[in-house]
Amino acid sequence: MIGRLNHVAIAVPNLEAGVARYRDTLGAQVSAPQALPEHGVTVVFVTLPNTKIELLEALGEGSPIGKFLERNPEGGIHHICYEVSDIRAARDTLSATGLRVLGDGEPKIGAHGNPVLFLHPKDMNGTLVELEEVAAA
Ligand code: CO
Repeated sequence: MIGRLNHVAIAVPNLEAGVARYRDTLGAQVSAPQALPEHGVTVVFVTLPNTKIELLEALGEGSPIGKFLERNPEGGIHHICYEVSDIRAARDTLSATGLRVLGDGEPKIGAHGNPVLFLHPKDMNGTLVELEEVAAA
């Protein structure tokens, strides 16, 4: 069921500074910022040869990463994202084993225009896990 590692997401207090670090200091290719109001974040993607790094900045009131940044003012690893080929089938299989899916369980459209879901960190060894449906996963 589980496919490739699509990205590791890092919450940052200041997206511009985060971009500068990856682009200018580390010499990586960084996408333009993308506001995702439905997810309460602005994101950029850092493209690496074998995966991506997603930098997340809080967007708007009650951002889901607001509390995380309060606890981790310097930022920190927020979630990891695995690809699946059929997100609803994956959800149903995982739910049947007792794994909790966050929210109402219906996939939302993520930063790549693909359906995504999040699994409860308490069921995943303390790691927030995003599943993204990717056709060739
Ligand atoms: Co993500």
